[in-house]
Amino acid sequence: MTTRWTVLCEQADLIEGAGIAAMLDGQQLALFYVPESEQKVFAISNWDPIGKANVLSRGLLANLKDQWSVASPLYKQHYELLSGQCLEEEGVQIPTWSVKLETGKVLVACE
Ligand code: FES
Repeated sequence: MTTRWTVLCEQADLIEGAGIAAMLDGQQLALFYVPESEQKVFAISNWDPIGKANVLSRGLLANLKDQWSVASPLYKQHYELLSGQCLEEEGVQIPTWSVKLETGKVLVACE
């Protein structure tokens, strides 16, 4: 299956070391720009399934055991930006998207 890349926003919309919220097909995403990471930009669901609110774009970034994660502003659980895995609750994982930067645009893979 070929990956379809959708332009989500401009690279200039991103904030270094922090998150912004974006909308893809009616679903809220949280985009994180981490220039010092190999991946540079990450896309996860903005929905915190434990806090039950769209807040993850406002969470704080953390580098734990060499993995970038975000701490939910509500109950402070960490979600890994690459896998969506919650570090405190083994059974909780949130959706993630492949994302890349190209000629000043942020592209997200969708199926
Ligand atoms: S733009 Fe419709 S599935 Fe991605």
